[in-house]
Amino acid sequence: MAPRLAVLSFVVVVLALAPSRRARAAEAKAGATAAKLVSAKAATAAAKAAPKPPRPRVGPLPAAEATMTHAPFEAGDCGTCHQKEDPKSPGPVKSAGNELCFGCHDELQTAMSLPYKHAPTVDSCTNCHNPHNSKQRSLLVAQQQDLCFACHQDIQAIATNAKVKHAALTTGAGCTNCHNPHGSAVEKLLVELPFDLCVKCHSKDGVPDGRGSTLTNFKSWLETNKVWHAPVKAKDCSACHRTHGSDEFRLLVARYPAKFYSEYNPQNYELCFTCHNTAAISTPQTTTLTGFRDGARNLHYLHVNQEHGRTCRACHEVHASKQDHHVRDGVPYGKTGWMLKLNFTKTATGGQCAKTCHGVKAYTNTLPTAQKR
Ligand code: HEC
Ligand code: HEC
Ligand code: HEC
Ligand code: HEC
Ligand code: HEC
Ligand code: HEC
Ligand code: HEC
Ligand code: HEC
Ligand code: HEC
Repeated sequence: MAPRLAVLSFVVVVLALAPSRRARAAEAKAGATAAKLVSAKAATAAAKAAPKPPRPRVGPLPAAEATMTHAPFEAGDCGTCHQKEDPKSPGPVKSAGNELCFGCHDELQTAMSLPYKHAPTVDSCTNCHNPHNSKQRSLLVAQQQDLCFACHQDIQAIATNAKVKHAALTTGAGCTNCHNPHGSAVEKLLVELPFDLCVKCHSKDGVPDGRGSTLTNFKSWLETNKVWHAPVKAKDCSACHRTHGSDEFRLLVARYPAKFYSEYNPQNYELCFTCHNTAAISTPQTTTLTGFRDGARNLHYLHVNQEHGRTCRACHEVHASKQDHHVRDGVPYGKTGWMLKLNFTKTATGGQCAKTCHGVKAYTNTLPTAQKR
């Protein structure tokens, strides 16, 4: 079976989690997924509808301009591809289309039998390559990103205008860090399943994040923290992050406070509330909406719903944690990022935190039978 984007399987996974809160999360997620697919469709339609840039001239560049030369051209064998050997007047090419190239590049012919093919490659190799020589690597007719942007103006707009840019687009092989420009077994011409792409590149310690801190080594983090947040378990990093760029902190798909303390306003937590119930945080008294309550006193409300409220990150590790409920072990404190232990313990009747932000405090979220009815 061909690998498919995790988004679809995610919907299935979420649907498999029975109770109503979960169903709601699933519904919201399905909505978000649908919206994403619609926008992806619109983007593809935009690429299709966009006026095709005139196919670049692919005649030989003057030798002095070229930085690389195609082997058969360098050999002077115009007749390999053209009807005549004469370099002054080689005449038309022997056969129209990509057959000319497949003769020597059978790996490309193989790529063209994969489930996902790139339209301009099916159309003609010379949309992107000069078969003679070039100023660019891989005989490209233009610098790679400019080449992609010429047809994908929607992606160009995101990549250039986004407040938060993703270095993945500009380091290493650029767009081809993640996409195969020819064809792929994975949707969206991805070279691997998206989760594997993200984790593979984000697998180093100490990479500076440009904000005075360092990025997580996801490979080791996910290996050592076994309680994965449902969308991470579904391998859907895109449920929360926009790959090509975003106006939100950390490339997020929706708002989430950048700082440790933040005034409570549901809009600041748009990200979490896409899938979770706002009322669980904003209702002062409840015996049903959240497990983080002492009797009927909503401790989510108490901690978060304030002018200098604690953000979710004060207690939760959004990707993966060692404890249930994604409660984190510690929080970075001060300039050095020294880890302050939360010392959260799950108890038979609720849980407790010890000696970090306050003295030992326990909560009870199980109710006497009489009260439950
Ligand atoms: C690897 C195959 C290949 C080889 C070898 C090759 N060409 Fe071409 N050439 C092409 C293709 C493909 C085109 C584009 C044809 C088209 O789009 O209709 C082309 C087009 C051209 C054009 C026309 C460009 C224009 O402005 O329309 C010239 C001139 C040319 N080749 C010269 C040469 C000369 C001279 C040689 C030998 C020194 C040579 N080619 C060797 C594949 C090749
Ligand atoms: C949409 C633009 C585009 C089209 C169309 C295209 N290529 Fe490419 N091709 C690229 C890019 C970009 C690279 C460079 C990949 C890299 O450097 O990471 C590349 C690389 C290559 C390479 C170098 C080896 C490799 O696989 O990386 C070969 C050979 C190649 N292309 C052949 C072809 C042939 C043959 C066709 C037509 C069947 C074709 N390409 C159509 C963009 C294109
Ligand atoms: C006669 C055989 C032959 C034909 C026909 C041919 N190529 Fe090549 N091509 C080669 C060889 C040999 C190399 C260099 C060896 C290598 O690196 O794989 C090469 C390399 C390339 C590269 C990679 C350049 C690099 O080093 O990054 C591209 C791109 C490419 N060819 C495109 C094309 C396209 C497009 C066509 C059709 C218009 C074509 N080739 C037709 C033999 C051929
Ligand atoms: C000559 C125009 C052209 C160029 C250049 C071009 N593309 Fe495309 N690309 C298209 C078109 C048209 C489609 C839509 C094809 C379809 O709907 O099947 C597409 C589709 C895609 C898709 C898949 C979208 C989907 O919904 O499956 C990706 C990813 C992509 N291109 C990436 C790139 C990258 C990366 C580059 C640069 C290496 C590039 N494109 C260069 C025209 C182009
Ligand atoms: C870090 C990996 C990564 C890099 C680098 C990357 N993309 Fe993508 N791209 C993706 C993923 C994942 C998708 C699938 C949809 C999504 O999650 O945004 C995608 C989707 C697309 C699509 C399909 C339209 C859509 O929104 O679904 C196009 C076109 C595209 N990318 C073009 C590019 C271009 C052009 C570049 C270089 C400027 C680039 N990508 C760089 C990962 C990447
Ligand atoms: C080719 C390598 C590469 C791939 C693949 C990659 N990233 Fe990144 N990513 C980076 C680098 C490098 C940075 C550091 C940016 C900086 O220096 O500010 C980064 C930064 C980030 C950031 C922080 C952005 C900020 O400025 O706060 C997020 C979030 C992120 N990546 C998510 C993802 C996700 C999700 C995927 C998979 C779709 C992914 N990355 C795939 C290289 C990659
Ligand atoms: C449920 C939403 C969600 C999912 C799913 C998700 N992230 Fe994140 N991610 C966040 C949030 C929220 C932040 C900001 C965390 C903070 O500052 O407290 C973040 C931050 C990041 C950062 C920058 C900070 C750091 O610690 O490196 C990277 C990189 C990143 N995520 C990568 C990924 C990758 C890779 C995946 C898939 C394995 C993924 N994310 C899945 C919500 C998510
Ligand atoms: C794409 C949907 C999605 C997003 C966005 C999301 N979550 Fe979740 N989250 C889920 C699903 C699904 C579950 C598992 C079902 C459940 O228990 O509600 C879950 C479970 C949790 C749990 C553990 C529940 C338990 O008791 O085990 C916590 C804590 C949590 N999420 C916090 C957050 C925070 C904080 C954010 C925002 C930074 C967030 N989530 C964003 C989908 C999401
Ligand atoms: C002061 C610590 C703290 C903060 C801040 C916090 N949580 Fe929690 N949260 C918890 C604890 C502890 C639990 C586990 C309750 C239990 O025992 O079932 C929990 C449970 C959850 C659950 C599982 C369902 C439920 O309510 O029992 C979700 C979802 C959740 N939190 C989301 C969030 C979101 C979203 C934020 C930010 C708006 C947030 N939390 C802020 C401590 C916190």
